[in-house]
Amino acid sequence: MSEFSKRVSVMANEVKNLKVLTESLVSPDIISFAGGAPAKEAYPFEIIGDIAKEVFKPDARGFGSVVYGTTMGVVALREAVRDILLKPRGLDVDIDNIMITAGGIQPINMLCQLFINPGDTILVETPTFVHTSMIYKMFQANLVPCEMDDDGLVIADVEAKIKKYHPKMIYTVPTFQNPTGVTLAQDRRKQLAELGSRYDIIILEDDPYREIRYSGEELIPIKAFDQTGNTIFAGSFSKIFSPGSRLGFMVASDEFMDKLCNIKLGTDTCTNTMTQTIAGEFFKQGHYPQHLESLKNLYRSRRDAMVKALDAYFPEGTKHTYPDGGYYVWVELPKELDTGKLAPEVAEKLNVCYGDGSIFFSEGNPEGAGSNCMRMNFSGQPEEVITENLKKLGNFFKEKLEQGGTSC
Ligand SMILES: Cc1ncc(COP(=O)(O)O)c(C=O)c1O
Repeated sequence: MSEFSKRVSVMANEVKNLKVLTESLVSPDIISFAGGAPAKEAYPFEIIGDIAKEVFKPDARGFGSVVYGTTMGVVALREAVRDILLKPRGLDVDIDNIMITAGGIQPINMLCQLFINPGDTILVETPTFVHTSMIYKMFQANLVPCEMDDDGLVIADVEAKIKKYHPKMIYTVPTFQNPTGVTLAQDRRKQLAELGSRYDIIILEDDPYREIRYSGEELIPIKAFDQTGNTIFAGSFSKIFSPGSRLGFMVASDEFMDKLCNIKLGTDTCTNTMTQTIAGEFFKQGHYPQHLESLKNLYRSRRDAMVKALDAYFPEGTKHTYPDGGYYVWVELPKELDTGKLAPEVAEKLNVCYGDGSIFFSEGNPEGAGSNCMRMNFSGQPEEVITENLKKLGNFFKEKLEQGGTSC
């Protein structure tokens, strides 16, 4: 039998964690709070259908959408990123610094290809996005967890760890973080960009949720404070258009973009031109503002229902975040409850699943970190389903506590 590469065993634990999350999503009978996909009601089917009918004809635009595309991506979509997703949000960049990628995950993989050698260190948030941890381990990086509080990464801890571990990269999801829903404060964004410049470290600003804000003030991206090109911004169309389109984008300096083009060429040549063309038209025809507003209205009331149900039905001593946007609430239960151990019983008795807290804690954390926590997705379920099932879940946890916790 052929020998597998070393990365297969190095990434095994992260693969297992990612599977815990994804396997719970496939059963149609289970009420899932574990996912991270848009709601069924959130897709602009009719508009996509109309655009497809209009575009896929044997004329110049039609051919442009079925042949190989350029490595950087379809111009109309890059213009939409520049003019609609970045400039009004405080990031003014040239179209030559925007590459369309296969989802928001691909920039993370490509940046590892560009910068990470086996044994390099990457600083990550605690907790952090499980899928990204898997990619980092695939490149045999060492992950060093950094502290977070209600305003995101704690900058003093990041700087202390820069001095101690000399990382190559710092990874952050600054807005409505996955998994906590926490947002990095404006002053810390500037400080993080400055740290990247001062110590010559790559700051990977992974920001797929920034558009979906329900409350609070909009914040300027870290990249907008970057004077040296050390910060790279990654975005996604998965939450604001369709994850099946597999579209994302990346903003990088001229020097890095040149190298990233070579990496993209050696990876998949170009991103899907058919979905790029449809998405480009979607923005060009002006559908986005109304679509985004409808997404926010749909999810805002789901967030409110979840927060209300957590306060009403969960055991005393439960803490949770209050996200101003995005998809997730992070819940910390009394320490006697182990969400990973209880998950099979919850699925069997209540037909409910959630994201077990411990899977979002990268290596370098103490054994059992996050075991009393859970990531709760609110975007995928209607308010009444959230209320009814969180009542059941809260009562289940209360009963477990009365019985002495998970070990009973
Ligand atoms: C933190 C984070 N980064 C990136 C992504 C991008 O995903 P995709 O490749 O679907 O665009 C996601 C999606 O869930 C995410 O949560």
